[in-house]
Amino acid sequence: MAYAGLSLEGQVALVTGSARGIGKALAIGLAEAGADVAVSDIPSMLDEAKTTQQLVEGKGKRCRAYALDVLDVGNIQGTVNQVVADFGRLDILVNNAGIRVRRLALDVSPEDWDAVIDTNLKGTFFCAQAAARHMVDQGGGRIINIASQMGTVGATQRAAYCASKGGVVNLTKVLALEWIQHGITVNAIGPGPTSTPGMLAADTRSDEEVAQDMEFHMPLGRRMEPEELVGACVYLASPSAGATTGHHLIVDGGWTAL
Ligand SMILES: NC(=O)c1ccc[n+]([C@@H]2O[C@H](COP(=O)([O-])OP(=O)(O)OC[C@H]3O[C@@H](n4cnc5c(N)ncnc54)[C@H](O)[C@@H]3O)[C@@H](O)[C@H]2O)c1
Repeated sequence: MAYAGLSLEGQVALVTGSARGIGKALAIGLAEAGADVAVSDIPSMLDEAKTTQQLVEGKGKRCRAYALDVLDVGNIQGTVNQVVADFGRLDILVNNAGIRVRRLALDVSPEDWDAVIDTNLKGTFFCAQAAARHMVDQGGGRIINIASQMGTVGATQRAAYCASKGGVVNLTKVLALEWIQHGITVNAIGPGPTSTPGMLAADTRSDEEVAQDMEFHMPLGRRMEPEELVGACVYLASPSAGATTGHHLIVDGGWTAL
């Protein structure tokens, strides 16, 4: 029998950017652990989000797909309110939506900077705020921010990305401190390099260069798969994690252990 402390039965989760990649795997994993799931993504990804919806429903859980662009800050609270209206509650928010720009610091434009910081950091904050307003009324909840191992170490060509993820790691601590009195825990997950459509599209290196990089930086010796992040997310969303807050759970194949 499965350990009841990790069951999400009866809970409702919202995952941003869940049409593909890590968000999609987390949405399906949360459903496997028992949660009903609201999947969401930018309007142009709604068809792909509906594929995630079908996979969640295939696990026997309720699901709906929402158009939610986290850059559209004025629309965030309304969409979160709609999720609560449709599902009756909101217990878990996974702030997964994120973008990367690989560019040397000398070449980063103001537009690059704003796109990355606004999506990864500002979007995370305002989604957390919108969800927490309901969670305060409900008497508790779980917020899980997808940060990065690059929120704690630097990497070349990642000025805006590393700044955004470092911001997410420390924002997680502030929200944890403010909201634990309401029964809301706020934690982050720090993935290492993970095979996703967005990551692969941004990586223009040859297979040989990637293999050399993995040998040098990645004790695991390969990129991770999105499904290897599900257990961390289910734990942080679960009743077992009631005393875990403000934590950055790094799941990076040993990248930051070197
Ligand atoms: N893949 C990795 O190696 C890796 C490593 C560390 C952290 N992460 C983080 O994991 C998260 C998911 O990344 P991924 O690799 O799955 O990327 P991905 O590009 O494959 O998927 C990201 C999803 O977010 C959506 N999205 C982008 N901008 C959005 C916006 N403004 N509003 C709503 N949705 C938006 C995209 O449409 C897409 O569906 C990101 O926060 C990323 O920074 C990824």
